[in-house]
Amino acid sequence: MSETQDIRIPIDDRTRVLVLTGAGISAESGLATFRGTGGLWDGQPVERVASPEGFAADPELVWRFYSRRRRDAGAAEPNAAHRAVATLEARLGDRFLLVTQNVDGLHARAGSVRLVEIHGTLWRTRCSRCMRPPFADAAFPVEPPLPRCTCGAFMRPDIVWFGEMLDPATTHRVDLFMREAMGAPFIFLAVGTSGTVYPAASYVQLARLHGAQTWLANLDPAENAGAFDHVVAGPAGSTVPRLLGIDG
Ligand code: OAD
Repeated sequence: MSETQDIRIPIDDRTRVLVLTGAGISAESGLATFRGTGGLWDGQPVERVASPEGFAADPELVWRFYSRRRRDAGAAEPNAAHRAVATLEARLGDRFLLVTQNVDGLHARAGSVRLVEIHGTLWRTRCSRCMRPPFADAAFPVEPPLPRCTCGAFMRPDIVWFGEMLDPATTHRVDLFMREAMGAPFIFLAVGTSGTVYPAASYVQLARLHGAQTWLANLDPAENAGAFDHVVAGPAGSTVPRLLGIDG
């Protein structure tokens, strides 16, 4: 169902809300999305900069790409949609969880705390080989000689690349929240995501199985739009504050 009128998501003092965000929520902060013309993946074989094989073949190219993204994300500011989501969390407390595919750190900077970054973050670095824990890192540009771990291997951004597993701790948190929400009024809201990358793209189905009413706020039709009860078209900076009844 597609809706354009002035509607609000029904949220009362029992409702649990799970929000899933993608690159589109940061577009109005000036950060490029992945797909489509001008997107980060436009004209660029994704595997070269976002896979373990790409990193093994050319770690310098990969660090150049993520250095630019650190620079851009560091210079960007959270927008009205990030802020509205953080305000909703402040109202709902533990009845709220935010799952983001974004690695830009803007949700945390907007004040979100109950936050699961399922694809990792630009702002941590880890060893590409050993189990040394990831550490906070805002360095850019990362230039040769590239940083190495004490074990000798190259350091890499703490981002989940294609062909890699998500951290089971993050997916467990999402599963747990869904289970706890079952039986209560439950809203699932996806914002600014093309619905093409799994498992995030399947959370809408999972939420439905757990009794959620499902909402999508996206600029263009997402690939999985048919799975949502309500689809609201438009830029997140306007639609999200309106849907949540929160001034951006
Ligand atoms: P995409 O680039 O695939 O999709 C962004 C979506 O946001 C599109 O459907 C746009 O229509 C929408 N959009 C753009 N501007 C918007 C705005 N102002 N307001 C609302 N929506 C807007 O980004 P993701 O779905 O986040 O993974 O991509 C998922 C994953 O694919 C990313 O996390 C990344 C990528 O490969 C990794 O890097 C591991």
